[in-house]
Amino acid sequence: AALGIRVRPIAELDVVDDALIAGAAVVARGAGAQLDGRRRSAELARVLSELRRIKDAWEIAELRSAVANTIDGFVEVRREIPRAIERGGERWLQGTFDRHARTVGQAPGYATIVGSGAHAPILHWVRADGEIDPEALLLLDMGVENRSGYTADVTRTVPASGRFSDVQRQVHDLVERSHRAGLAAVQPGKPWADFHAASMEVLAQGLSDWGVLPVSVDEALSETGQQHRRFIVCGVGHHLGLDVHDCDASSYEAYLGGTIEPGMSLTVEPGLYFHAWDETIPPELRGIGVRLEDDLIVTETGTEVLSDGLPIDAAGIERWMAETA
Ligand code: GLY
Ligand code: MN
Ligand code: MN
Repeated sequence: AALGIRVRPIAELDVVDDALIAGAAVVARGAGAQLDGRRRSAELARVLSELRRIKDAWEIAELRSAVANTIDGFVEVRREIPRAIERGGERWLQGTFDRHARTVGQAPGYATIVGSGAHAPILHWVRADGEIDPEALLLLDMGVENRSGYTADVTRTVPASGRFSDVQRQVHDLVERSHRAGLAAVQPGKPWADFHAASMEVLAQGLSDWGVLPVSVDEALSETGQQHRRFIVCGVGHHLGLDVHDCDASSYEAYLGGTIEPGMSLTVEPGLYFHAWDETIPPELRGIGVRLEDDLIVTETGTEVLSDGLPIDAAGIERWMAETA
């Protein structure tokens, strides 16, 4: 009724034999079961996916509001850290965000990731069944999905104690530099792959400066090198919208091999993930995981960072931790 769409009972649905169906989840159960068994069309899925690449003003407003709701959720979670340290651990913080998301929006847009200490480097720690180590970093990757279905996807890595240790700050500073390089490389008209490359270049150089890369920066950045990817096994960003990984069925040409265009909505999210078991790295780095993830809208002239209400620098995060306690 809200959209003025004429509807009829599902029993009257008459689907022609050669109807093309995109997707799987909605057709397998409930009223959609009538469509089950129909031929899935990768082509239809691709076209629908590519139609979602450019967001209109209404969609952008929804994303802006989902991000604002998410930032409120970060504050709610931050306030619960002392209690979670005492009792409840990662489960309590995950539950705190999920309750917030259910209350102000529809739900979390994806399984809320809460990783303390050695769980932070694990992509993606949705089990969230550990304790909160008061001396360790706490990786929070959380997004409210609004009732319209549009979701945010934001990550901050905070020191549970409120203060970064020297080595935690060192890792966070490098991820921040990589993040800033990535943000700067998102520009209308530029290749999509540029921000990924810009972020990776900073990480490879930083890892080399620390003596952690077994090869030169040039070799690591070459196609057959990629040794720095040991510490970041995922990409640096993705389309964002109705799905957290929106537009996923797009062709290579329209997505990874495409161009950044005004109206696109995406994340930038470099990170460094040093596993507790990794004996190839200095002991002080083991068990540290840091990700910074912001949500952006591409404008005619540049970008708008929707999630800049949360700081990205270590000093700013310490201040935010103190102010929101
Ligand atoms: N929260 C999942 C992702 O960052 O892609
Ligand atoms: Mn993401
Ligand atoms: Mn995320």
